Amino acid sequence: MSLLPSHWTPLLTTRTLGRAVSHYEHTLTSTNLVLKDMAKQGAPHGSLCLCECQTAGRGRMDRQWSSPEGQGVWLSVLLRPALKPEDAPLITFACALAMAKAVREVTGLDARIKWPNDLVLNGRKLCGILLEMGFDAQGMYVVAGTGLNVRRGAYPSELAEHAVSIEECAAIPDRGAIIAAYLKALEDAVSALEQDGFAGIAADFRRECITLGSQVHVLGAESFTGMAEDIDATGALLVRTDGELRRVLAGDVSVRGVMGYV
Ligand code: BTN
Repeated sequence: MSLLPSHWTPLLTTRTLGRAVSHYEHTLTSTNLVLKDMAKQGAPHGSLCLCECQTAGRGRMDRQWSSPEGQGVWLSVLLRPALKPEDAPLITFACALAMAKAVREVTGLDARIKWPNDLVLNGRKLCGILLEMGFDAQGMYVVAGTGLNVRRGAYPSELAEHAVSIEECAAIPDRGAIIAAYLKALEDAVSALEQDGFAGIAADFRRECITLGSQVHVLGAESFTGMAEDIDATGALLVRTDGELRRVLAGDVSVRGVMGYV
């Protein structure tokens, strides 16, 4: 099924996300890049950019993101949230939670969150999220980009040990149904953040987060191993090592399970 808005917007149950401007192009550089340009030209909260294929898909830490034709859901949402700039990174948790819910609702698969924002299935990465912030005349904006592997061809074969697609675990889903479910869950999670900060989504996030209760390697300026015990009110991961509880901030580090990627 194509991603033409006329095919999936009838499924939308949101108030604003995906409603105002839905920008679809078959092929573009990167939905994050295009949406950032749209934001600078005044695009409203909730604008969506999606495509079948990205020629310059971008991942976290300046990595490339493979986004071949028709193999995934490659989209970005523009948010102008009622949050302080220092709380904007919390949106990454809202995106992960929303995509976990959408995948479960549409496919029945139990994709879980690897803190802070990867979705994993059977120990391999199913979805990544790239958050980019900026300021314009209207104030702060956040471009939340999501890449979900739907078909086997979504990721290059050399990543097969660490990546997975929905097709490998369930029937090929209607991508439009996933997009509509994601936008609804994201709208709800962002409004919970606006009302109560991380506390508004904390219970749901803890339940979905596979990192809690696992031994992890934290790789950053300082690297160490410990037990991921909890997530605090700011969304930081609390890792116990040598009797000490250390706060790990998303963005600064990469977290790996001691037995592998998860
Ligand atoms: C990660 O490194 O895990 C984040 C990957 C984010 C990929 C998505 S695909 C849609 C959007 N556009 C991009 O260029 N990147 C994000």
